[in-house]
Amino acid sequence: MDERIVSTEADNHESAIEQSLRPQTLSQYIGQQKVKDNLSVFIEAARMRQETLDHVLLYGPPGLGKTTLASIIANEMNVQLRTTSGPAIERPGDLAAILTSLEPGDVLFIDEIHRLQRSIEEVLYPAMEDFCLDIVIGKGDTARSVRLDLPPFTLVGATTRVGLLTAPLRDRFGVHARLEYYEQRDLAHIVARTAELFEIGIDIRSAEEIARRSRGTPRVANRLLRRVRDFAQVVGNHAITEDIAENALERLQVDKLGLDHIDHKLLLSMIEKFRGGPVGLDTISATIGEESHTIEDVYEPYLLQIGFLQRTPRGRVVTREAYEHFQMEVPIRD
Ligand code: ADE
Repeated sequence: MDERIVSTEADNHESAIEQSLRPQTLSQYIGQQKVKDNLSVFIEAARMRQETLDHVLLYGPPGLGKTTLASIIANEMNVQLRTTSGPAIERPGDLAAILTSLEPGDVLFIDEIHRLQRSIEEVLYPAMEDFCLDIVIGKGDTARSVRLDLPPFTLVGATTRVGLLTAPLRDRFGVHARLEYYEQRDLAHIVARTAELFEIGIDIRSAEEIARRSRGTPRVANRLLRRVRDFAQVVGNHAITEDIAENALERLQVDKLGLDHIDHKLLLSMIEKFRGGPVGLDTISATIGEESHTIEDVYEPYLLQIGFLQRTPRGRVVTREAYEHFQMEVPIRD
């Protein structure tokens, strides 16, 4: 498990906290305006026709609110939400058991849907398309296939790796919604909302300070807010002021752009040992002693997003913006 304060992953304890903070309706959900606007039309249209909502695929980086959106969809459609995940479904029978226990109209949320095994995915195809299950009974010569009707339902699939989905699965979702990193303004708004739920005072500038360092991710913003709240409680008189926020974030070693010691180590070793690149992923991996796939999946996305790193055919390159962030001189490249 990744222990960084800026990690986009949540453990069980944090998921429980998130659940208690979760907005219940689309109108309470801050940011992701395009996704929200489209979903509200699709939801309203399905309700007018008294049909189930088409299957929805939510994709994008972790921590941006895919699980929250799934629960809002169920809530807005006035149906129950059933939640599972790709790795939790081990056998085709596990999925069949879930599907046959749904009530008409229910939302079935499958997180990390890219991790479903192929044999299980095949159970999903007729379920998504025709609301039925094809079951084989018997063995050998006497084996025959029986079709079982399922209640109509909406599948909401979520993935951080949409490229890993097979085409047949991807194509069976009528709605594809890509979540983007949040704008600062929206994150500050989320911080203020969470502070209100915690019944802790915060001024707008402190909320913006936390937002700036949250890597475009509500999960990180709310985690930083919880830690800053601790400082406010112990050092101050409960309310979060700009001084307290700045001080706490310094002590948490999250810099002005939300970079932590690991980001610094990665960028500085590329700058100091390889003149900023291009340098291959495996070389970076050996240099800083981290697995290549951890660098690729966990460390790099935000650095690419803010334009501090670029991927080129010859390897990774540190950009001028990163040098400027560290107040270092940009080398002249050949
Ligand atoms: N908490 C976490 N994400 C949120 C969002 N998008 N809107 C409101 N509250 C949130």
